Formats: sequence, structure tokens, C-alpha cells
Amino acid sequence: MFLLSVQTFLYRYIFKPIAFRFDPETVHDSITIVGNWMGKHKLARQIARAFWHFENTALEQTIAGIHFPNPVGLTAGFDKDGLLTDILPDVGFGFVEIGSVTGKPCEGNPKPRLWRLPKSEALIVYYGLKNEGCDSIHDRLVHKKFRIPMGVSVAKTNCQETANVQNGISDYVKAMKTFLDIADYITINISCPNAFGGEPFTKPELLEQLLCATDALNPQQPVFLKMPVDLSFEEIDKLVDVALLHKVHGFILSNLTKRRDRPEINSADLVPTEKGGISGRPVFDLSNNLIEHLYKRVGNRLILIGTGGIFSAEDAYEKILRGASLVQLATGMIFRGPQLIGQINHGLVRLLKRDGYKSIREAIVKGRKVGKVIRA
Ligand SMILES: Cc1cc2nc3c(=O)[nH]c(=O)nc-3n(C[C@H](O)[C@H](O)[C@H](O)COP(=O)(O)O)c2cc1C
Repeated sequence: MFLLSVQTFLYRYIFKPIAFRFDPETVHDSITIVGNWMGKHKLARQIARAFWHFENTALEQTIAGIHFPNPVGLTAGFDKDGLLTDILPDVGFGFVEIGSVTGKPCEGNPKPRLWRLPKSEALIVYYGLKNEGCDSIHDRLVHKKFRIPMGVSVAKTNCQETANVQNGISDYVKAMKTFLDIADYITINISCPNAFGGEPFTKPELLEQLLCATDALNPQQPVFLKMPVDLSFEEIDKLVDVALLHKVHGFILSNLTKRRDRPEINSADLVPTEKGGISGRPVFDLSNNLIEHLYKRVGNRLILIGTGGIFSAEDAYEKILRGASLVQLATGMIFRGPQLIGQINHGLVRLLKRDGYKSIREAIVKGRKVGKVIRA
């Protein structure tokens, strides 16, 4: 733990002030190059593991037949092209979700398309589903042995052609079909706020059509839906009703918020654009509320994965107590450093002990906040 605390200090006072002087996308791309290089070299992987990795049997779970060494995953959008799958287990992640991957290669929206809100600990994301396309990403990964579960987030290519519903569905189906041989789970991302034609599959009747098409692929692995966070509970419930009729094992809660009126957005941060969705702190409560709502509705039947604004073990634990079985993050790691994953896992073990649980599973089964007052 001492080593992790030293790294937090170094990240906060040395790496971050330097990195945050540069364009966020350039920094992200550079880190991806370094991470990809590290993943290819055994010594670099071992050093990363020695610095960052934390394991404890209390954190292990088997969910939908998949063994997760810990509940903290990398959320979609950080490793869009599947370049980091060799190093992420050594960083300490319990699973990774690559993508979102689309049927065709996609340049994404014009730059700039990523901004920091430093005081709010948030990002504005307007990438528009930039990725190399399902075929080349699949080719890169098909012969790899994954040391942690690898989910693939699929979406429709961001272009005019897929704004047509049938073309959009075909694009999702193509991306999903490509990965059925290697993905441990598939996420259908219906909530990208930044793509041409908006989010058509957040309409129940169109979601129905999309899920009929994905059911027809007969996936053998679990399928999750990545949900928007800005809809009302009534609108969400209608989507859930549709999902319950299909091969959907759970929900990822949630995607970015488009709301600029979140109290977490510090007035000292100039919001440079009305385009794009916001990650980090401004999503935390919104996604927690959604987790709690869906846990009440379907928590005994479906799996919930919580994402949005996790910066500490307490944040991750909050999502777990509200109903999430697993959590994911990206923005927290960008603001706090790669040692955050080990710190969260270490902290989760401490919180489990504090509350008298032997394992994360026990906290999930016995500790749910729904209907109870748990933590002050
Ligand atoms: C740079 C960036 C790119 C993202 N791209 C995607 C994406 O391609 N697909 C997706 O489902 N979510 C994407 N997201 C949303 C995240 O997966 C996640 O839902 C959101 O950022 C909240 O988590 P966080 O606060 O830990 O970042 C992206 C987020 C960021 C920060």
C-alpha cells in the first residue's frame, strides 16, 4: 500500500501536471503506445505487476459462468482498438471491455474531440466511435490468450449510411458476429451520444428490432446493454421491458451524460462545447441512481455493471451496494493514475472487512442498499 501511495503522490505532483499541459487525445494515444509496448515485453509486464497489481481471494467472483479475479474493469472507450489487453491484467484490472467496435473502420468526429474539465474531474468526449473496425481488431486479438475476461463493446459505424435503421442493425450484427469466437461477453452500446443519427436504439420499438437480430446470432456468451443515463426512469423501464424478452443478461450503467447542469461541474471549468458527453464525477450520482432503480426492478434476474465517476474504493463500493456486481472506470484512472486500480481493490477488501463480509459476493448478496440504510 505504501508503494501505491508513493505512486499517487508522483502521479499527482509530477506526471499529471506535465501530461495535462498537452492535448488530451495526444496524451491518450501516447499512453496507448507505451501500454501496447509494455504488454509485448515480459520484463515490462512484470515491473507493472510489481508496482500496480493487487489480488485477494475475497474479490474473486464467477458471474454468468465467467471468473473475475476482481470486480474492477476498464470501461469501453479507453482501449478502443484492443491494443492494451496484454498489459491491463498487470495494471490490476479484473476485466476489460474493448471498443466500442463498429462494423466498418471509423475515423470518428473531427478533432478536437476530447477535453478535460480539471476542477470537475471530468472529460468531455466527442470521439464519435473512432476505431479500426471489427475485422482488423479481431485479427489482432484472435490468437491471443487473455488473462482476464475480455468483453467487446459493439456499436454501429458512425456514418450517414447507418442512420438508416436496417443498415444500422446490420452494422451492429456484423461487429458482434465477428467477435463471437473470442469475446467473453458482448456489450451492445445503444447509448453513444456522439454518433451520426443520434441514439435510435434507445427507442423501444427499434431496440426490439435490434435485439431480434442479435438474438438470431445465438451468442453463447453473456450479452449486456450499455444504457444511456439521461433518460427518465419511465423511458429506461420501457427499454428494460424490451430487453427482458431477449437474450440480454444485464445492463452497463451508464454511458456519458449530455447534461451541462450537473452540480459536480465546477464553475471554474469552462465547458468548451455543447457537443459531446461528459464522463467522471458528473456521472457518478446519475449512474448510481440508475443502478439502484434497475436493481429494484430486475436485480434478481439480471446482472448490473456500474460505471461512471469512480475515483476511489468508496465510490466502487457505493455502486456495489446499490446493486452492481462489477464496476468499470476510465476517467478516475486518467485523473489519479494507473495505481488507482490496485488501490480500489485494496480498499474494497478493507471495506468488506469493516462491514463484516468475507467476500465481495457476500456484500452483493447481503449488503444491498435497496430498502435499507447502510452507510451514513
Ligand atoms: C475517452 C472516452 C471514450 C469513450 N468511448 C466510449 C465508447 O466507445 N463506447 C462506450 O460504450 N462508452 C464510451 N465511453 C464511456 C465510458 O465507457 C463510461 O461509460 C463513462 O466514461 C463513465 O465512466 P468513467 O466516469 O469512469 O469514465 C467513453 C468514455 C471516455 C472517457
